[in-house]
Amino acid sequence: MQESCTLLIFGVTGNLATHKLLPALYHIEAAKRLDPASRVLGFGRRDWSDEDWRAQVRSLLSERLASRLDDSVLERLLERLHFFSGDLEQADDFRRLAERLRTDETLPGNLMSYLAVAPTHYATIVDQLSTNGLSALESGWSRLVVEKPFGFDLESANILDQRLRRCFSEDQIYRIDHYLGKSTVQNILVFRFANLMLEPLWNRNYIDHVQISHAEAQGIGARAGFYDGIGAMRDMIQSHLLQMLTLVAMEPPPSLDAEALRDEKVKVLRSIRPIAREAVHAQAFRAQYAAGRGADNAKLAGYRDESGVGSNSTTETYAALKLYIDNWRWRNVPFYLRTGKRLSQTNSLIAIRLKHPPQQLFQSTAIEQLKPNWILLNLQPNECMRIEIQVKQPGLELLAQTEQLDASSCALPTEHIDAYEALILDVIAGDHTHFLRYDEVNWAWQVVDPILKLWATERDFISTYPAGSWGPTEADRLFDRDDQQWRNGM
Ligand code: BG6
Repeated sequence: MQESCTLLIFGVTGNLATHKLLPALYHIEAAKRLDPASRVLGFGRRDWSDEDWRAQVRSLLSERLASRLDDSVLERLLERLHFFSGDLEQADDFRRLAERLRTDETLPGNLMSYLAVAPTHYATIVDQLSTNGLSALESGWSRLVVEKPFGFDLESANILDQRLRRCFSEDQIYRIDHYLGKSTVQNILVFRFANLMLEPLWNRNYIDHVQISHAEAQGIGARAGFYDGIGAMRDMIQSHLLQMLTLVAMEPPPSLDAEALRDEKVKVLRSIRPIAREAVHAQAFRAQYAAGRGADNAKLAGYRDESGVGSNSTTETYAALKLYIDNWRWRNVPFYLRTGKRLSQTNSLIAIRLKHPPQQLFQSTAIEQLKPNWILLNLQPNECMRIEIQVKQPGLELLAQTEQLDASSCALPTEHIDAYEALILDVIAGDHTHFLRYDEVNWAWQVVDPILKLWATERDFISTYPAGSWGPTEADRLFDRDDQQWRNGM
């Protein structure tokens, strides 16, 4: 059981709270992992009572979890919810908030402040928390959870970091990249470092290339206000995909201690070969979805026709990137990263292709072109680890076929626990292992900054791809060789 705390959420009616945080709190409640005294205080502008908010959450979770909803779990969660009506721009509302937290005896003294709001509000909230004595409490801890995007580019991230650190110390700040809470992402470490047989293969001598790809069938939905102007490179690659890359590429840490792990991740980011301005087009590609058709042949609108998007917007909804890691282990092994909205399927996959054996023994047989081995780590929709190997087909001919060695988890149904469950519990436990230290964020911005700077000067044109497709074929030009291609799913 965890320590009791008050989870103060800024932005309770926003996309993040409704889609991710409240379902995660429900799952934590179902697993009985919250102290009975813990409470959730939602800060929002609506003039709601506790009961009003509870009714909203009841209908939201009933709709989202449908037949999986257990009424007794829901009621237990609802009892913990309280609403605080306030305006982020009103200093007086923060004074009232501090007063409430000090005097309301039902609210435990440990405070987790969760910034589930647009990044433009971060600085104001943090200043106000500090001014009102909520960043350093007399009794109990005060922890700050900051969502990505952490800054808009390298410079703004540095400014934001300085601003936060005037009010909170590094050990109070939890920078979330929710991919680090996903089970398969955490499994990368176990898969790599608990299995001796992989380590000899895990380097430039045996690995041809690595692909890290996140595809979404959905468009931007109602998120134009956040997404337009941000784009796929900032939204997904700077954070989630680069984090996955660090876990695939890092050296074994001396221990699983948060600092040891993060030191190794930073070393990977620092070793990424900087992309010179002249090399941006050879190493990065961006595009935007145009109208197309979905799986059921239904018409899908193009990005510029989505509500809230400017008709001339050149925000990318697809980005692909080739990186090299200049260290002993990975020199000259390409890492291809790709993400896109309105692609053919929703799927996140790390695909590692091994080289061909040094001698093509089977060249003059019916096995003309041997397929390479792949190691596949599928994150979602289902968690699955698979190794593809070549074996002889049964029968008189010497023919090969691909067999798949699946981890037993591949047969399990899609997991409903997402990522926020584990991360919220980590914050309560004071464990920074799966959160970003600022130097990681800074180095990740250094990787993508040259690309963003050049793209910012090319605002007149952006390539397109049909919604519902696998993205722009022009992105294939990033591959080093013709026999390298995107793996679309398992
Ligand atoms: C978020 C991005 O961080 O991650 C979204 O802002 C994206 O644009 C989402 O859709 C993907 O996360 P998940 O957990 O649904 O794969």
